[in-house]
Parts: sequence; C-alpha cells; structure tokens
Amino acid sequence: MTKIILDVDPGHDDAIAIMVAHKHPEIDLLGITVVSGNNSLEKTLRNTLNICTWLGVDVPISAGMDRPIVRDRYLSCDGPGDVHGETGLDGHDFGEITAKTTGIHAVEYIIQTVMASEEKITLVPTGPLSNIGMALRMEPKIIEKIERIVLMGGAYGTGNVTPSAEFNLYADPEAAHIVFSSGLPIVMMGLDLTRQASCTQEVSDKMAAIGNRASELFVNLMEFFRGTQKREFGWDAPPVHDPTTIVYLTNPELYETTHCNCQIGLSHDMTYGRTVCDMHHVTTEPRNTHVATKIDFDGFWEVVAETIRRYN
Ligand code: BDR
Ligand code: CA
Repeated sequence: MTKIILDVDPGHDDAIAIMVAHKHPEIDLLGITVVSGNNSLEKTLRNTLNICTWLGVDVPISAGMDRPIVRDRYLSCDGPGDVHGETGLDGHDFGEITAKTTGIHAVEYIIQTVMASEEKITLVPTGPLSNIGMALRMEPKIIEKIERIVLMGGAYGTGNVTPSAEFNLYADPEAAHIVFSSGLPIVMMGLDLTRQASCTQEVSDKMAAIGNRASELFVNLMEFFRGTQKREFGWDAPPVHDPTTIVYLTNPELYETTHCNCQIGLSHDMTYGRTVCDMHHVTTEPRNTHVATKIDFDGFWEVVAETIRRYN
C-alpha cells in the first residue's frame, strides 16, 4: 500500500481524485489537506467536506493556506472564466455535511504526519502548491521522510491560464519553485498528459451504469464540467486532470514519462509560473522531474471504474 496525503482544492476533478484514492486497495489515504485555488479556502474546504460526507471518506481533513506564500492574491482568476461554477463544485446536490476538520492547520498536519510516520509518505497535490511549499520551508526535515511528490500541474506545451502556464502552478509560482528545487523526486501530470484523460460521453455512460452513490456524483460533476470546458476551451470531453496522479501511483505501466530537469519560471513576464521542462536534455541541469507524456486512455478509465464499483 502506498501511504499518501492528498492536497486538494475541489474542484470537479479533485473530487474524482478523492473518490479513487479512498477506495483503491493499493492506496492508504492518511489524510486530506485543503488549499485555496479553484476557489476561496472557505469554498474548497466546504466542497471537500461535502465530497467526504457523500462518499463516506473518514480521514483527517485539514484546512491550509488561504493565499499564495509570497503574493497577496492568486493571479489565476485573470485567466479564462471559472470552469468549476459558483460553489467551485457545481452540478451535484449534496446533503447536510457531517464530515469534520481536524482544526489543525494543513501545513502542521503535513509536518506532524510525515515526521511521525515510520514509512516514507508520498505527497499528492492537485491544487496550488502553497501548503506543500510552506511545509517544506517550515520543517525541511520532512524531505528525508517524503517518498516523492506526484502532482497535477504545469505543462511542457501550452498552458490554460496564460499561453505558457497551467492554473495550479501559476496560482503560486513561488511555492512551486520551493517544491521543484527541493531535491525531492517529482512526478508531474501536466496538461499535455491530463488533456488525454478526457471524460467522453462513453466514459460517463460507463460510470452511470455502475449505479451507486459514487457513480451518481461522478456523472453529475462531469456533466457540469463538460459544459464549462466546452464553453471555455471548445472541448466536447472535459480533461479530468487530478485523478491521473492517483492512478499513476497504482498503475505506472499505463503512463509514459520523460525524466528531465524542470524549473519554474519566476520572471514577471509571459513565462511566469511556467514549468520549463528540458525534455530534450539540452542542459546538464539535474533531472528532478518525471514528466508524464502519454496515458493509456482505456486503462486509466478502467482503474477509475474499478474503484467506483467498490462503493455501495
Ligand atoms: C487544474 O486546475 C484546476 O481547475 C483543476 O482542478 C486542476 O487541478 C488544471 O489546470
Ligand atoms: Ca485541482
């Protein structure tokens, strides 16, 4: 079993990452930490509690950073309109929330959990890297006890909030720099990969046929996401970015990656927040990142379906 802490900012695709991580038999979901990003911390926390209540996910949930580490506010909202709707998780009617938070700050939770663990822990961020960057700065000793960081963010091709930057890393480029320069092994699920993990109508129909609480949530969220992704990017099938991290942990054979140097653009120009990936090894900079380039579409969705079938 791979022990993970999942760091999220739900978000439609974050919800699917939680759904898969909770029921996958090879994943030990120790806790969920929440960061602002797709929406305010208040909303991303409420969305996390809603998802966990609906799915019966009973793990520690801790709220973290409500803004980037250095900047006063997120820049990402200057990009395309909000693809996640008013609540940050539109499309499904959740009932009353019963899931609770630990009351511990997410950064403290990460540090305490990692330091107390006998085994190394894998961090899986699917939002801005503010919580992870802050934890690495507050307690650098955690580096020795982290197995690796498998994240959704960045792109070696084109971005989605600027021509070259992806939302999560553009949201807090300084935090992303801390993570990518930490010396930890990083696996990067960038847009080039996650745009291949699209939720076609056939995929939605396959999940609907499962017919349980999880599949109902999946279909409702993806149908809303389909509409906003079509409006903003013109795609018929929305890319389901965040669960690609979880499936990579359990089924790396479904992915192709390139091991290379990756650095974060910190100049205040059109490369700000960009993941500059040396895919052709034109420098001798250390290879710190496994950049995912290809995913087996059918294999990926079958793993997601298998975990959804595990719900009642
Ligand atoms: C990332 O941004 C968010 O909207 C998604 O949840 C995903 O983590 C994609 O750029
Ligand atoms: Ca996300």
